[in-house]
Amino acid sequence: MINTNTKIEDIVKLDNAIMDFFNKEKIDFCCNGHMTIEEVAGEKNISPQDLLEKIEKNMDANNFREKEGLDLEKFKDLSLKEMVASLIVDHHNKERDLLFEIDPLLNKILSVHYNHHGKELMKLHSLFADLKKELEEHFVKEEEVTFPLMLKNENPSPEIIKKVEDLEVDHEKAGSIIKEMIDLTSWFKVPEDGCNTYEYTFNLLEKLVKDVFVHIFKENSIMFEKYIESEEK
Ligand SMILES: [Fe+2]
Ligand SMILES: [Fe+2]
Repeated sequence: MINTNTKIEDIVKLDNAIMDFFNKEKIDFCCNGHMTIEEVAGEKNISPQDLLEKIEKNMDANNFREKEGLDLEKFKDLSLKEMVASLIVDHHNKERDLLFEIDPLLNKILSVHYNHHGKELMKLHSLFADLKKELEEHFVKEEEVTFPLMLKNENPSPEIIKKVEDLEVDHEKAGSIIKEMIDLTSWFKVPEDGCNTYEYTFNLLEKLVKDVFVHIFKENSIMFEKYIESEEK
């Protein structure tokens, strides 16, 4: 059972579908998953008991809702080698494709809607460029350096642990760019005069952001945690 001292990441492990609720409530389950309900409530200036009740209500509702094919359960049971392969195929490649698709679309809506939404779109365009750079460079670092090192050394050395911690720092950077994007667009809300391309682009951005959240959660709270714990045994 959960209580106000339960960590956000442990709630996600219990109920994957709660991620939607956390996204809507702007509760960070990936980079700050170690925070407890009480700590999050404190930051948001709300009562921990109210937040706990809301979370429990959502968890109950999720029991009746069909799960969205989120495969955290399966992911948890994979070997390190399988986890790496799955992260690359299911997240790195998928997000690379999304970044590639969104880039020209965002440029297009910036030109077409500049007169009415120039300020917001200029900022979004610039945040997206930062996120694209951050993620693409981060993926290659994981794929070419840190993941192979982890696979070669089942018992982590302090040097490898340092590299893993560097990746977590990158995750926080990406997470804070994403938070700015969410605040700027009120969670990718399309303005009333937005065209179909506007809507399509915002849908893709939302898809990207949700995927990055699950991706970071799998790395920080499942794979890295499992890897680093193996040192302590
Ligand atoms: Fe990754
Ligand atoms: Fe990563």
